[in-house]
Amino acid sequence: MLERVQKYLSSAGVASRRKAEEFIQSGQVFINGKKAKLGDKVNPEKDVVKVYGKIVKPQAEKIYIGLNKPHNYVVSKKDPRHRKTVFDLLPEDLRTKVWNVGRLDYGTEGLLIMTNDGDLTQALAHPKYEHEKEYEITTSEQPTETQLEQLREGVEIATGLTYPAKIKAKNGKIYMTIHEGKKRQVRRMMDVVGLDVRNLKRIRVNNLKLPADLAPGQYVMVKKEEIL
Ligand code: URA
Repeated sequence: MLERVQKYLSSAGVASRRKAEEFIQSGQVFINGKKAKLGDKVNPEKDVVKVYGKIVKPQAEKIYIGLNKPHNYVVSKKDPRHRKTVFDLLPEDLRTKVWNVGRLDYGTEGLLIMTNDGDLTQALAHPKYEHEKEYEITTSEQPTETQLEQLREGVEIATGLTYPAKIKAKNGKIYMTIHEGKKRQVRRMMDVVGLDVRNLKRIRVNNLKLPADLAPGQYVMVKKEEIL
């Protein structure tokens, strides 16, 4: 679809519409090598637009997916062992556009965010923001108060001491909230305090809760504001 060059520039995040008009009027905008005039039309799929000599790419529509990862799926685009991947659960047109934010182990189920938004990915990955992740853990035996207290205080795993975790025990399950994302962190913490994990499910990433009616393998489209 054709759009006016000033609109193209502003929606690509170059500048406000007003400022983009100034760039055009000052002769700094080129469409396919030709100096642009106000009101010239651009085909975002074909035309090459340059501002101050730099190519301006069209802004991709931002996509935010909350997937309920089933057990025994790999969080990776490709698996050398040819196991099923979480990308197999998305339709073709989405699969090629998004990436996963963080990981869940092969044997873990629950909420995985997938997006094409680099800012969101950065924000969720950066330890300084301390975004929370909550896990529901089923153990083989009931935990003791001492074990729960150890988890709350933080335990020593191979990569160092973990930050204190928020821990609740309810209806035979443990609910653990952490804001780090060390490899296999929950499983390793449970191992250190001597609890055997029978099932591990992520039920929340920051503000986004895993919807109760979302079956494993299904996903929902969400808005950025529902996550951050
Ligand atoms: N911690 C783990 O041990 N495994 C996961 O998949 C996620 C967090």
